[in-house]
Amino acid sequence: MSCTATFVGWGKAIPRKIRTNADLATLVDTDDEWIFSRTGIRERRIASNDETTFTLARDAADRALHKANIKGEDVDLVIVATLTPEYGFPSTACLVQAAIGATHAGAFDLNAACAGFTYGLTVARGFIESGLYRTVVLIGSDTMSRVVDWTDRSTCVLFGDGAGAVVLQATNSPGGILSSYLRSDGTGAQLLIQKAGGSRHPVSPQTISEGSHYLRMNGKEVYRFAVTATTEAALSVMADAGWTNNEVDLFIPHQANVRIIESTARSIGIPMDHVFVNADLYGNTSAASIPIALCEALEQQRIKVGSRIVTVGFGAGLAWAANAISWTTPTTPS
Ligand code: ACO
Repeated sequence: MSCTATFVGWGKAIPRKIRTNADLATLVDTDDEWIFSRTGIRERRIASNDETTFTLARDAADRALHKANIKGEDVDLVIVATLTPEYGFPSTACLVQAAIGATHAGAFDLNAACAGFTYGLTVARGFIESGLYRTVVLIGSDTMSRVVDWTDRSTCVLFGDGAGAVVLQATNSPGGILSSYLRSDGTGAQLLIQKAGGSRHPVSPQTISEGSHYLRMNGKEVYRFAVTATTEAALSVMADAGWTNNEVDLFIPHQANVRIIESTARSIGIPMDHVFVNADLYGNTSAASIPIALCEALEQQRIKVGSRIVTVGFGAGLAWAANAISWTTPTTPS
């Protein structure tokens, strides 16, 4: 029998500092009522100077390896999904690889923006099912606070920082990641973009004075895209797994906006008590949002052996992805 990719460890790393909607109202012209009613967000975490995409990724990976009782030297591959890497290069994944002692592993970053973790699950699954690698550490880590314009109220209220990690391992029993769906549409590239700092617009006094090193977004268009794309992706992986909407135990969507989550859940026909939501606490942590949500669902005992889970992510690119997961690992505290 061919091998399947199952989850054997998980962990998260959340910055210490909380920034509430009331705190934001002291920075820009906004208020808790507007932010909460439009997005469902109450607060988010903001990385301090000593917390970065790398340190959060490393801490989440350490916790996931500890949970899995696996040593760094037994890891074959480290993937960090991020759009806010530690440096332009080298990859954040190489920094994590060294920090966790993954001395026999390959390492690379994956940029599919907020869909990064869901893309990463599919990539890790491919490596494992092909028989190429046995143990993959996949991390979603982002420090969005470092790329938002703190004077732009239309974006700065939406994002937060954090990391989540999983250890995926090859097993011969059925379960794990059952089906995957990846899509992209680069014609929407301008809808959500950090223009400066790359090959087209290297950092210069001009890019800085224009503020083009900050994230810019057409919120309305991204909203429209998100509901359609996440619905299509979720329905596709459910069909491939042979599940109806009534058979999904937990839907874990990207935590960008509770209104998007509710619309998607409605379109798929999954009731909100089968949907995991923590956007109120963290805002949109980009590639970290789904692994943090997965960890918290596990901590809250909302996942058990046999649970049918659908994850779906979307973001800049445009890029979107989903996975259907049959949970196989005991989740009671060890
Ligand atoms: N506080 C108060 N007022 C605000 C704020 C704010 N923080 N931000 C915008 N407004 C104002 C606008 O200026 C506008 O005022 P006007 O009518 O006088 O011009 C008004 O509120 C309405 O603005 P809209 O843009 O119409 O608000 P909308 O209901 O569309 O909500 C939002 C905006 C929350 C951004 C929504 O469009 C959204 O969630 N879009 C999707 C974003 C998303 O998911 N991004 C993540 C992608 S993942 C990744 O790859 C990073």
